[in-house]
Amino acid sequence: MTFEGLVRRARALTDGSRRAVLGIVGEPGAGKTTLAEELCAAIAAQSPPGWVAHVPMDGFHLADVELDRLGNRDRKGAPDTFDALGYAALLRRLREDTDEIVYAPGFERVIEQPIAGAIPVHRTARLIVSEGNYLLLEDERWSRVRPLCDEIWYADLDRPTRLDRLIARHIRFGKDASAATAWATGTDERNAEIIAATRHRADLVVPASLVRAVGTPPPEPGRVADF
Ligand SMILES: Nc1ncnc2c1ncn2[C@@H]1O[C@H](COP(=O)(O)OP(=O)(O)OP(=O)(O)O)[C@@H](O)[C@H]1O
Ligand SMILES: [Mg+2]
Repeated sequence: MTFEGLVRRARALTDGSRRAVLGIVGEPGAGKTTLAEELCAAIAAQSPPGWVAHVPMDGFHLADVELDRLGNRDRKGAPDTFDALGYAALLRRLREDTDEIVYAPGFERVIEQPIAGAIPVHRTARLIVSEGNYLLLEDERWSRVRPLCDEIWYADLDRPTRLDRLIARHIRFGKDASAATAWATGTDERNAEIIAATRHRADLVVPASLVRAVGTPPPEPGRVADF
C-alpha cells in the first residue's frame, strides 16, 4: 500500500457526478487529521477547483457550556461529549447534495470549542473526506454514521509514536508535561480502547508504516523559524 494508492482509491469513490463521502477513523493522535489533509491536498492538485473538501467530525464537540450542564466536561473527547446526531445529519445533508452551500462547524484547539459556520462546502465538492474518532461505533447514535460513508479507513499508528505525538500536542496547546501525560494515558486512552474495538469494521486499515510517514513534525513550542 502506498500514499499514491490511497489517493487513487479515494478519487475512485466517485465518478465525478455523485458526491461521495470517505471517512477516516483512528485512535487519538493517530494522524487522522494529518492523513485527511495530505490526501485532500494531493487530490486537489489533480482535480478541478473545489472538488474535494475536508469536513472533520471534531466540529461536533459539544460546547463547554453544554458539557458543564451534562457534567461530563472532564471526559471531553468521549463518545457522549459529541453531537453524534448532528454529525450524521450533516453527512446526510452533504449526501443529499441539494444545497448550494453547506457550512460545517470547525474546532478551535486553543479554546477547545466548536466554531459554527467555519467550513464551507460548495456544490463543486464531489468527494468529502471526513475524519474523527467514532465513525465506526455501533451504539444507537453513532451507528447512523457508517451507512452515510462510502468507505471508512482506519489509520493505524504504533502506540509509542502515537503517545509521543499526542503528549507533544497537549503541551503545544498549553498543558504542562505531567497534565499532558495524564490526559493522554487517562481520558485519551479510554477513548483509544473504544476506537480500537471498532477497527475490524473498517473497509481498509492504513498501516502504521504509511501513516507515520505522512505529514511533517510540527514546530517545537516557542521555536522561531529560521530565515
Ligand atoms: N510526520 C510527523 N511527525 C511528527 N508529528 C506529526 C507528524 N505528522 C503529524 N504529527 C503530529 O501528530 C499529532 C497528531 O496528529 P493528528 O492531529 O493528525 O492526529 P489525529 O488522529 O487527528 O488526532 P485527534 O484524535 O486528537 O484529532 C499532531 O500534533 C500532528 O501535528
Ligand atoms: Mg484530529
